Amino acid sequence: MVAGSDATPSGVGETAIGAAMMRARESLRDHPLFDDPYAAAFVAAAPPVFEDGPTTDDDPELARLEAAFEAAVSVRTRFYDEYLLAAAGAGCRQVVLLGAGLDTRAFRLSWPSATQLFELDIAEVLAFKERVLAQVGGEPGCRRTIVATDLRADWQRALLAAGFKSTERTAWVAEGVLPYLSNDDAHHLLVSVSELSSSGTTLALDQPCIPEDSLLARAQAMPVMEDVASMWQGGLDDNAILWLRARGWAVEAIDGAALAAQYARGIGAFSNSDFLTATRL
Ligand SMILES: C[S@@+](CC[C@H](N)C(=O)[O-])C[C@H]1O[C@@H](n2cnc3c(N)ncnc32)[C@H](O)[C@@H]1O
Repeated sequence: MVAGSDATPSGVGETAIGAAMMRARESLRDHPLFDDPYAAAFVAAAPPVFEDGPTTDDDPELARLEAAFEAAVSVRTRFYDEYLLAAAGAGCRQVVLLGAGLDTRAFRLSWPSATQLFELDIAEVLAFKERVLAQVGGEPGCRRTIVATDLRADWQRALLAAGFKSTERTAWVAEGVLPYLSNDDAHHLLVSVSELSSSGTTLALDQPCIPEDSLLARAQAMPVMEDVASMWQGGLDDNAILWLRARGWAVEAIDGAALAAQYARGIGAFSNSDFLTATRL
């Protein structure tokens, strides 16, 4: 159980509802990149996100930015779906979603039996998530364990106490979460992931490919986005490819724009994230 079961996510937790809103919209499209049948229920159960903020009706630039974010979230959701299904296909039976938010992969992807999936996020987000899932009657297709923890603190201990086995091959996902951490906290997160990873373990994450031209940087430069942008801490300052290679990972970079084109999702004038997949040597 997690505390605060009546609470609705606020602050950084509210960003999880924003991502669910975008996945709900994608699921309604013709030929969607994925179908998330739970996303709309999360959105319906929450107050409008960033209620006091500007609306896209007020500001065409904001409308363009929102469309770009929507495409970026859809592309990255599909990317991580494929990454996890490939890991499962290659025999990996342990999955950890860091900053899982309202991710429903435990429910909507097809998992081999005996897959153990851990979802880590702050208590407020997970309490809200469990409440909505109980209302809609969601049943996971794997063994699913939620771990309420702060990724800036001793989350490793909480994960190990929840049954995570560091000797087993794992597929880690850090989806849309590093920008909410400071450089020091991103270091702490990735050092801890490295320490908990046995040979053959994989990690996937996203990072802005041209930081000063990224969606987040563009949004940060818009005064109307001040409240939202104040939550972005920048994530890892170092080049993540070099950082991971120096710590015993073989890294592959996936061009975000090429992936968006492959999935037929343009993001207009905005630059996208690149994706990294890394394998523990
Ligand atoms: C933009 S959402 C992404 C959620 C999910 N990965 C997805 O793509 O839908 C960022 C998530 O990171 C979580 N998060 C941010 N900082 C965190 C921290 N210090 N500890 C735990 N979770 C955190 C937020 O609560 C939120 O759920």
